[in-house]
Amino acid sequence: VDGRGHVSRQGINMASSARTVLVSGCSSGIGLELAVQLARDPKQRYQVVATMRDLRKKGALEEAAGEALGKTLTVAQLDVCSDESVAQCLSCIQGGEVDVLVNNAGLGLVGPVEGLSIATMKSILDTNFFGAVRLVKAVLPGMKRRRQGHIVVVSSVMGLQGVMFNDVYAASKFAVEGFFESLAIQLLQFNIHVSLVEPGPVITDFEGKLLAQVSSQEFPGTDPDTLHYFRDIYLPASRELFRSVGQSPQDVARAIVKVINSSRPPLRRQTNARYVPLTALKVVAPSGHLYVRVTHGLLFRWPRLLNLGLRCLACGCLPTRVRPQ
Ligand SMILES: NC(=O)c1ccc[n+]([C@@H]2O[C@H](COP(=O)([O-])OP(=O)(O)OC[C@H]3O[C@@H](n4cnc5c(N)ncnc54)[C@H](OP(=O)(O)O)[C@@H]3O)[C@@H](O)[C@H]2O)c1
Repeated sequence: VDGRGHVSRQGINMASSARTVLVSGCSSGIGLELAVQLARDPKQRYQVVATMRDLRKKGALEEAAGEALGKTLTVAQLDVCSDESVAQCLSCIQGGEVDVLVNNAGLGLVGPVEGLSIATMKSILDTNFFGAVRLVKAVLPGMKRRRQGHIVVVSSVMGLQGVMFNDVYAASKFAVEGFFESLAIQLLQFNIHVSLVEPGPVITDFEGKLLAQVSSQEFPGTDPDTLHYFRDIYLPASRELFRSVGQSPQDVARAIVKVINSSRPPLRRQTNARYVPLTALKVVAPSGHLYVRVTHGLLFRWPRLLNLGLRCLACGCLPTRVRPQ
């Protein structure tokens, strides 16, 4: 990092071959863990630009980074919803060269669609989908010119299948999946790889933020039956899901580091083996009947079976991580 705060490839004690990795959303959770794991790489293979929209939140990251701070890790401001912020952030990286972009910033949204405003829904799409697109548009010309790069996107198992009362969040992750799968084909011609990392539930601030949001919201215009299904069926089941099969952000970050290190990066990587039985329901029956009916049955008709199933998945006899290929 030079005197003007610019990130240099020839940083202190850093191998000149170190790759510049830009990670969005590093104030907490997966982004924070990933930035720290990369910056503390024993072989110093990465120069990490750990970004967040509000620098007042940088304390936790700086503390976790320890000695890596200012050496292999630089903290920078980046709001993925702002073109100016993206341009400003990239202008601080020498040559604007990003070797690995990790689109991690994201927001959740749960609740009955009747009770959510279009403006709220758009803000989720703007962050989760257009935020990733905005960053990709900014780094692609450089990656194409250099004929190398890796774009990693923190998607979700909800980019593979819808989940009740997560309609808008799942839509944003489906959008991400379609966009990046399409882009992956063209980019291979430029030696640029695309990887969609798909965690199941992860124990970060994400769930807490959602629960705080729903506890204060009334969802106006929603009928009493739907509100009952949301509050008394969905929310307890969701809490149980996090409790039983929730993964740590450290585990997810480790899975992302492996994807970044891979010589043949995968297009898709689920991180939680305990969640695979749920994603498999859609794969084994492409009509979607099996997934929709089984999930409906588990939530509305056989809740005890759902709890038993989650307890079995949580019992520890299954591996917690999907092994890299
Ligand atoms: N937790 C889960 O269960 C789970 C499961 C699957 C996938 N994911 C995905 O994993 C990613 C990280 O989530 P997490 O679990 O680590 O949650 P988290 O701790 O809430 O982290 C989300 C990060 O995104 C940032 N962010 C939100 N809007 C932003 C914007 N406009 N510009 C820049 N940063 C912004 C947040 O910053 P602020 O602190 O300023 O809000 C925060 O740093 C998300 O894409 C999420 O969809 C999470």
